[in-house]
Order: sequence, then C-alpha cells, then structure tokens
Amino acid sequence: MKSFASKPWVLPQPVLIIGTYNENGVANAMNAAWGGQFDMKEIAIAMGAHATTANLNRNGEFTVAFATRQTLIASDFVGIVSAKNDAKKMEKTGWTAVKAEKVNAPVFTDFPMTLECRIKEKLGESPEGYYIIAEIVNIVVDEAYLAEDGRPDVEKMQLIVFDPVHHTYIELGQKVGQAFSDGKALK
Ligand SMILES: Cc1cc2nc3c(=O)[nH]c(=O)nc-3n(C[C@H](O)[C@H](O)[C@H](O)COP(=O)(O)O)c2cc1C
Repeated sequence: MKSFASKPWVLPQPVLIIGTYNENGVANAMNAAWGGQFDMKEIAIAMGAHATTANLNRNGEFTVAFATRQTLIASDFVGIVSAKNDAKKMEKTGWTAVKAEKVNAPVFTDFPMTLECRIKEKLGESPEGYYIIAEIVNIVVDEAYLAEDGRPDVEKMQLIVFDPVHHTYIELGQKVGQAFSDGKALK
C-alpha cells in the first residue's frame, strides 16, 4: 500500500449543479463536488465565495441538479466561469431555466432530476464562504427518467461523478447489486 498525505479524495464525488437567481433575477448555476446527503431531508454543501453565495445570502433558496454525460461540458463550464465575470455565462450553457415549484430558484430542464432546497443553517460563515445545511423541500424528475415503479431510474440518467484525484468526470455504469440484500448471503 502507498501512503498519501491528507487530500480531498472522498471517492467518488457528486457533480451537483446549484441553481440560484442573480440580483437581476437571471438564473445562475455553479458546479459543486463537495456536498452530499446529510440527514433524511437535508443536504450539506461546502460553499466558497461565489456569485452563487451572494445570491444565497439574499435568498436562501436554491436547486441542485445532478450532472449527466449530456450536460458535462456546460456543467464544467459553470464550475470554471463566474457570473461575476461573464454576463453571458448561462446563455453559453444553452440550458433552459424555469422557476421551481416550491422554492424561488431556477430548475434547469436539461437535467433528469433536481432537488429544491431551502437553507436551514450556515456553518462557519466567513468571507471565504460557509457550509450549507439545507432542507430538501421538493424533488422534480423528468418523466422520461422514471422506472416502471414510478420512481427515478438512476440507471437511465447517464449521471457523471467527479474523480478528485485526476480531476476527471466518470459516467456511472450498470447496476451490480441490491443494497440491504446481497450481503444477506454471508449472514
Ligand atoms: C468539478 C468542480 C467542483 C467544484 N466544487 C465546488 C464546491 O464544492 N464548492 C464551491 O464553493 N465551489 C466549487 N467549485 C467552483 C465553483 O463552481 C466556481 O467557482 C463557479 O465558477 C462559481 O460560479 P458563480 O460565481 O457564478 O456562482 C467547483 C468547480 C468544479 C469545476
């Protein structure tokens, strides 16, 4: 085994696309890999100091979409260009924004599944940002991505994850097992 010093290498990381409204009411998006499910109804995200952060400080509501193979280039783009420096940022993505049902934030219809979230707590707030704990108040899923049981079909979504070691995006593959079940073979 080779040892490495401490690094942000939790594997794999999600590619979360955070949707908010800029001051002028125009939709914005940013890419966030440092986040995940926190509690049954909550999500946690490590938020730096971005245009998105200023948006969240005005209005603590946002959306979280999960990036896909089809949205990869624009998803990376919104992670390397700030709305602070490019007034045409979202125009360049080609994404379509509609207002979310339950929160004051944009849903980008180019993504199969989107969480609608409301900030509950900001931890460690400083000029560099903060850790968001937010309630997931609603989830919208494009009907094309539903399984036969009417629930989201993750296998259909061509989701990508972030590899923090080599900074690559990797597409999720096939189902290989059944959780809370396959392990019973060793009981
Ligand atoms: C793969 C990737 C992961 C990122 N993860 C985060 C993250 O977890 N938290 C964060 O604050 N910024 C993260 N960023 C940086 C923001 O997405 C980036 O600064 C973005 O341009 C901010 O846009 P805005 O200023 O328009 O809000 C990430 C960027 C990339 C490309």
